[in-house]
Amino acid sequence: MALADILWKPDTIARYNVSGPRYTSYPTALQFGPISHTALPDALALGEHNAPLSLYVHIPFCQHLCYYCACTKVVTRDQSKADRYLDALEYEMQRLAPMVRHRPVRQLHWGGGTPTFLSTEQTARLCQMLSQNFKLEPNDQKREFSIEIDPRVTSLEQLEQLRSWGFNRLSMGIQDFHKPTQEAVHRIQSLEMVTEQVEKIRALGFHGISFDLIYGLPHQSLTSMKRTLEQVIALAPNRIACYSYAHLPERFAAQKRILASDLPTPETKVELLHTIVQQLQTAGYRYIGMDHFALPDDGLVKAHENGTLQRNFQGYSTHGNTDLLGLGVSSISAIQDIYLQNHADLDVYQDTAQSMVPTYRGYRMHEDDRIRRRIIMDIACQGYVNFAYMCDEFAFDFQAYFARELEALIPLAEDGLIVLTEDDLTVTEIGRLLLRPICMVFDAYLPSHGQTRYSRVI
Ligand SMILES: C[S@@+](CC[C@H](N)C(=O)[O-])C[C@H]1O[C@@H](n2cnc3c(N)ncnc32)[C@H](O)[C@@H]1O
Ligand code: SF4
Repeated sequence: MALADILWKPDTIARYNVSGPRYTSYPTALQFGPISHTALPDALALGEHNAPLSLYVHIPFCQHLCYYCACTKVVTRDQSKADRYLDALEYEMQRLAPMVRHRPVRQLHWGGGTPTFLSTEQTARLCQMLSQNFKLEPNDQKREFSIEIDPRVTSLEQLEQLRSWGFNRLSMGIQDFHKPTQEAVHRIQSLEMVTEQVEKIRALGFHGISFDLIYGLPHQSLTSMKRTLEQVIALAPNRIACYSYAHLPERFAAQKRILASDLPTPETKVELLHTIVQQLQTAGYRYIGMDHFALPDDGLVKAHENGTLQRNFQGYSTHGNTDLLGLGVSSISAIQDIYLQNHADLDVYQDTAQSMVPTYRGYRMHEDDRIRRRIIMDIACQGYVNFAYMCDEFAFDFQAYFARELEALIPLAEDGLIVLTEDDLTVTEIGRLLLRPICMVFDAYLPSHGQTRYSRVI
């Protein structure tokens, strides 16, 4: 049954529209605490010599401030700030590369902020630094090198340069084409500009384009959303991430410039989601889960179908099951069972990187975390948990260990989010829209830090 065919249950959806983590990791970053700056090199030194390694590089700079933005960024017009930042990245790479130089890097992602803030020379310098320090996969068919671009600050020449350096996937910040929404969030970008870039990206032979959209922004209505979706569908991106707007003005000061009275009501937001799911599925997109859609021939859909889909800090992935080394301000590494995060303040990160590995907090998982992580990732990626497999893998009695959680799942089963048997848990079609509250049942830390730090599901 396609999601578009399900009986839409607005009351059920509204009841489970709680605040909770997106589970790009478990435990979530709120659980991180102080950790020695030698923990990352120590973990890398213990790693398998030839196992693949994924790299993430954070470029924090943006030319403009979008009022809704919840990303780690520094808004500036001063291009030279990126030179100092690249110096720090180079120190960081030189310190860590000796431990991982021999591991093939098939997945590389530049995120932000806005990676295309970098000039042509700065981009070339960063690419050179990466290829000098790491064993980047030379085969374009075997690697997935992706970058987040803001169409407003990306030239056609930059796209050519990125392709020539081996990038083969792009995600574009679109958010919405509706003019009143664009004006209210201080992000004006025309359909014509995006169309020109999409055509160029296709002509250059990129393997895939992903669009970021947000629903729940000021002045969005069902009519405006339908129009934006028509325009998006006409451009046929391979993947679409349609995020629910996380409005947390007490955490992100710029969001105070968005008037609460301009935002759609919670009921309208649920209707917006309904429109998005219906319209994208009618156009042939498959719903992957947690805000993500993809065309049927996309790797994410195949991974979803054959049970190999993974989730990491960048969202859903086909290569998520490898060690991830995060470089740059605020970046998170996940090496074996340890999470490590770099300083999130730009000056502190840059100063620290000159003399030592710039990690400052992290988390070392224990057995209970590993079990719960596995369950939460199975729910988020496969929509299915087999209790016997879990017992075999972790050598424990699932029913006894999770007696409280199984009890807590009963109302979710009664409300049709899951089918629960003695042997397994299967997420239903309506439940796939509400993966976060299902995962939350298995989160051991939610009761201690509460839900208020998180955004709502819808
Ligand atoms: C690092 S940003 C995108 C890259 C690039 N800087 C751009 O704006 O085009 C990643 C994405 O996060 C999403 N995002 C940012 N703030 C958000 C918020 N408050 N709620 C939901 N999604 C948000 C946007 O869709 C954005 O495109
Ligand atoms: S949405 Fe992108 S361009 Fe806008 S402030 Fe956030 S990171 Fe920067």
